[in-house]
Amino acid sequence: MSRNKPAAVPSPNIRSQSSLKIAALSLAAVSLAATAILWPPTSVAAQADPAPNTPEFYTQRVLPIFKDNCDRCHGGMFHRGGLSMSSREGMMKGGHSGAIIVPGNAGQSLLIKLIRHEGPVDDPMPMPPKSKISDADIAIVTQWVQAGAVMPDAPPAE
Ligand code: HEC
Repeated sequence: MSRNKPAAVPSPNIRSQSSLKIAALSLAAVSLAATAILWPPTSVAAQADPAPNTPEFYTQRVLPIFKDNCDRCHGGMFHRGGLSMSSREGMMKGGHSGAIIVPGNAGQSLLIKLIRHEGPVDDPMPMPPKSKISDADIAIVTQWVQAGAVMPDAPPAE
């Protein structure tokens, strides 16, 4: 049943311990080097955080909010209130009330008033009608309009 055991079970000796240490040290050195490469994270930050007056800000920060909260009524074939939000043209044309965005002036933009649920008294329908997007999302959309409402002519669908 039992087979011959090796004469001596190898036990950790000084040599293997120190080579372990060296391995650990060089691992640490590698991760330090990786940190050095990523730091300062300027290029990474520029990618993750496009300036509000760039089309990238629209596609990366604003568009996901509109897709989640507005597309089912203002995207693709849906033009509720006469408003299509799927192209720059539609966005700038606005809806039955006319222009909804005054580039560079969030305070004058109907779009901002409606998502803040501070629409005009004669047309109190807030957007989206049954809920309110988060303050953080409102801030992003506001920042975008304030910076000139820059967007690609035809933002990527889905
Ligand atoms: C459930 C459907 C629905 C959703 C979701 C929705 N809307 Fe609307 N939206 C409407 C309808 C209906 C009107 C027309 C309201 C009216 O005429 O009083 C409208 C009108 C508007 C108008 C005014 C258009 C005009 O010229 O009168 C704006 C601006 C607007 N929506 C923006 C948004 C934004 C931004 C979102 C997402 C944050 C959104 N809506 C989500 C249904 C929706």
